Amino acid sequence: MGKTENLFLFFKKWSRGKGIEEIMNSQSRPLLDIKNLVKDFGGLRALSNVSLNIQKGEIRGLIGPNGSGKTTMINLITGIYNISGGAIYFSQDRIDGLQPNVIAGRGVIRTFQIPRVFKDMTVLENMMVPALCQQQSMAEAKARAEELLEFSLLTRMKDEPAKNLSGGQNMLLQIVRGFMKKDLRLYLMDEPFSGVHESIKGIIIKNIKAMNQEKMITFLIVSHEMTTVRNLCHRISVLHKGELISQGTMEEVANDPLVIDAYLGGE
Ligand SMILES: Nc1ncnc2c1ncn2[C@@H]1O[C@H](COP(=O)(O)OP(=O)(O)O)[C@@H](O)[C@H]1O
Ligand SMILES: [Mg+2]
Repeated sequence: MGKTENLFLFFKKWSRGKGIEEIMNSQSRPLLDIKNLVKDFGGLRALSNVSLNIQKGEIRGLIGPNGSGKTTMINLITGIYNISGGAIYFSQDRIDGLQPNVIAGRGVIRTFQIPRVFKDMTVLENMMVPALCQQQSMAEAKARAEELLEFSLLTRMKDEPAKNLSGGQNMLLQIVRGFMKKDLRLYLMDEPFSGVHESIKGIIIKNIKAMNQEKMITFLIVSHEMTTVRNLCHRISVLHKGELISQGTMEEVANDPLVIDAYLGGE
């Protein structure tokens, strides 16, 4: 059992009874506070007055039928697109209008639905990319990369070019590479489980839970995998046609007539 795994078990034990209720009920200001967000693409309103906030330490699920605006939400939070209305606050500072690299510098990163890795670079070299972009000791970064690869059962692939990995392994690599970022605070994931083999899904979940519990990293996870979302996320927000129609635990949203209509109404 690796060092990280031990640490994970320790934190799991330690955090028992200090669950998410405490985080949810805390009076502190949310880490991410989205107010009346609007996004128009020409005549199409992709997001309409969406208000959503996430507390530090939360794992939030974001679900909704295809085209409901989930990826657009991630693109707006990370500054890839400009907002058309409303405001986005991170750690009480307004971040809409900032350049993507500035937002990333505050500790907000994302993954893409189609993994973006450097195909001709080895797995270990891919892991080192975030370290090259930040001032840090290369030896320390390499040790961290190797620890993360071990935790993710990728050690035997570390000197292979990324193009030799399966689709699921590429997704895993993309996700784990993000953990190389120093001062990571909010990690946005766009469909991290889609097309991923069950065993790799398990490793991705293990990584998210460990980083959440060890480092209080906050997550927003877009996914269609209801069983995984239920197992992983503290709360769930539901988008439908650009509007936030429901929010709560999986039980709450699954029993919400608006959600049932959205999913059964046909797209
Ligand atoms: N760059 C873009 N230009 C024009 N329309 C877009 C663009 N990105 C997304 N859209 C539209 O916005 C809506 C929401 O898309 P998206 O956020 O990708 O949905 P989801 O991720 O929930 O499937 C869709 O109607 C989509 O066609
Ligand atoms: Mg999408």
